Amino acid sequence: MKLLIDDAHIDLIKRIYEFYPVDGVTTNPTILAKGGRNPYEVLKEIRTFIGEGAQLHVQAVSREAAGMVKEAKRIVAELGENTFVKIPSLPEGFKAMKMLREEGIRFTATAVYTPMQAFLAAKCGASYTAPYINRIDNLGYNGVQVAKNIHDIFRNNRLETQVLAASFKNSQQLLELCEYGIGAATVAPEVIEGLVKNQAVTAAVDEFIKDFEGLTGTGKDMSSC
Ligand code: G3P
Repeated sequence: MKLLIDDAHIDLIKRIYEFYPVDGVTTNPTILAKGGRNPYEVLKEIRTFIGEGAQLHVQAVSREAAGMVKEAKRIVAELGENTFVKIPSLPEGFKAMKMLREEGIRFTATAVYTPMQAFLAAKCGASYTAPYINRIDNLGYNGVQVAKNIHDIFRNNRLETQVLAASFKNSQQLLELCEYGIGAATVAPEVIEGLVKNQAVTAAVDEFIKDFEGLTGTGKDMSSC
């Protein structure tokens, strides 16, 4: 499962990259709005930091297909080939997806709440489809189960599209999808950091260090004892 960062704050992205094995960054218009800066200025900063080899996902905001395609061309021209244009999975979006496939521009179908949205997007040639796990849960449905259903539909229909699950609020949601072997998940920095927040782990490591220093002296380690 690829793991991406769902944020546009460069300091947070740098912090996660320093400690964890991540494969890229996803953004959406709300995430970009939080920064209050020009979108391309922020996205180019992210691209420069993560490099051309990492995935960057950037959303189009036009309501009509022609506008989405126009945005997609600029997004890829400005941010490089390894940029996936996020297209909302509604009628004009599907129309845009078919046009993007013709243009050879890779895209991620976003705002996915149901398996059939994902199925249609996959048939339009989406590289990824992004079910919103927590937002689906908040509607009273089971977001993890929806993502699993989508994964199964792709495999059973021999569609190459991958699930890029989004909108996580906790480790358990991510764990279940990781176990299931979905293609990718995009996760906010605080949720990624929450994956390893565990007092038992810290306590175990503290005890090892205390015992070692009791044996060799304060501040000593295996390079200096
Ligand atoms: O970009 C869509 C998804 O990542 C939204 O997440 O946390 O706002 O529900 P969230």
